Amino acid sequence: MRITNFIQSKLMTAEEVAVVLPEKVTIGASGFTPAGYPKVIPTAFAKRIEDETKKGKEFSINLYTGASTGDELDGVLARTGAMKKRLPYQANADLRNQINSGKIEYTDLHLSHVASYITHGILEPIDVAIVEAVDVTADGRIYLTTSSGMSATYINHAKEIFIELNENHPLELKGFHDIYLPDLPPKGRPIFITHVDDRIGAPYVKCDPRKIKGIVRTNLLDSNQDFKKPDEISYRIAEHILEFILHEISKGRIPAEYLPFQSGVGNVANAVLSCIAKDSRFHAIEMYTEVIQDSIFDILDADKLHCASTCALTFSKAGQDRFHANINELRPKFIIRPQEISNHPEVIRRMGIISMNTALEVDIYGNVNSTHVMGTGMMNGIGGSGDFTRNAYISIFMAPSVAKNGNISAFVPMVSHVDHHEHSTQVIVSEYGLADVRGLTPKERAKVIIENCVHPIYRTPLKEYFNHALEVSKTKHTPHDLRRVFDWHIKYLEKGTMKPD
Ligand code: COA
Repeated sequence: MRITNFIQSKLMTAEEVAVVLPEKVTIGASGFTPAGYPKVIPTAFAKRIEDETKKGKEFSINLYTGASTGDELDGVLARTGAMKKRLPYQANADLRNQINSGKIEYTDLHLSHVASYITHGILEPIDVAIVEAVDVTADGRIYLTTSSGMSATYINHAKEIFIELNENHPLELKGFHDIYLPDLPPKGRPIFITHVDDRIGAPYVKCDPRKIKGIVRTNLLDSNQDFKKPDEISYRIAEHILEFILHEISKGRIPAEYLPFQSGVGNVANAVLSCIAKDSRFHAIEMYTEVIQDSIFDILDADKLHCASTCALTFSKAGQDRFHANINELRPKFIIRPQEISNHPEVIRRMGIISMNTALEVDIYGNVNSTHVMGTGMMNGIGGSGDFTRNAYISIFMAPSVAKNGNISAFVPMVSHVDHHEHSTQVIVSEYGLADVRGLTPKERAKVIIENCVHPIYRTPLKEYFNHALEVSKTKHTPHDLRRVFDWHIKYLEKGTMKPD
């Protein structure tokens, strides 16, 4: 029974909620890479804003989420022109355009930091939490849907809570979550997760039920794109990573039963899982990660998943159907945690995670830019890549060697923005090969990165730059010619290509 007396007493339409939302509001919404985000309330609110803005009313919205969300939240609200501030991660084209045209202020945050910024009042306080749930009880237990993200913290801090009760998800979704939030310093205790499948919290978020001001019934699923099979280049990158892992096992640096994997979003991450599924040299793995995508089904089909701890289950329509059809069988395989825990440095370091994330560009010393196109334009944000990279047992960065039809080299003299510096990055890989730069000096790193990873059309020019840098600053620890470090980027901006003349 989903519609209890309590739920009945709180039922509203999305339009009724939209009318009572304040004109100046900071919203804390559920949703993570886009899974489990509210859909109908934001859409109705956007409609109200558009109608009333025409009559001269002014709206101002700050939107905080777990990570990226769907168009029914990020897109609709960005397009109203009323969004003033957004954090901590996004991947919506309209929102990105407004961030890069200066219309929306964007705070790009490590995902593990958001909860403490809210709790300590560093960020503007949450007025309203809007969360998607599969069930709500009269004593204030909120059972979330396909992500956990920041929902627990936003629910705790919001003055008012509105819930989208999504009836498309079966009630069997209850039990996938493990909601636990650490105490603040100096009262913080160790987080007792020593294995991927440890449960330390509750399967729901608890709140004062009086704060729940309205519940809206919905049945819209997360609008994720269809799953695309990884391309050839991604498979080649994945093969290098798998060979590296087997090599590390042979050296005794990774145990034969492996360490838990974290895998980022996108093509290459999916290719790695798909290759593990196919490769008979690999047996079952564990994942301690922040997002699980459809590629997990390859691993499940090959019977190679012990357990995956995640912050979100981000499935395509077909993936969601499959998840629903097998939900009871899949329950022991997945744990959904708040991002403060899925991305917590303490847990990541203790368990010895092998992290795999994608770079936009990497420089000769192994500094990585994941966020800023040509050093200035925001792509998506740092997301959880910093949380994992800095604390992993082995942190791997992968990137196709070139972008934009070969006009951009992913390997450059100096990155135009730094998200992950040379002290945190350990393994860099492109389709041409892998550079294990652990323990190397800057000059040694440059040699192995140029030799192993760079596309052939850029290899000689990058070597020439490095030799030139050695000439002009030969006694220095990290050679560079500051007059020339951004020549490649400037050439791209002026001529549309970094290719040598
Ligand atoms: N300069 C400019 N543009 C570049 C580029 C570079 N050096 N390298 C790639 N691009 C462009 C691509 O051409 C593509 O453009 P398009 O969308 O117009 O086609 C776009 O960036 C995305 O590249 P793609 O190869 O499709 O990679 P992806 O989907 O795997 O995304 C990141 C790569 C870096 C944008 C993405 O992984 C990200 O946002 N990372 C940061 C967050 C993160 O790592 N989270 C991990 C924890 S889940």
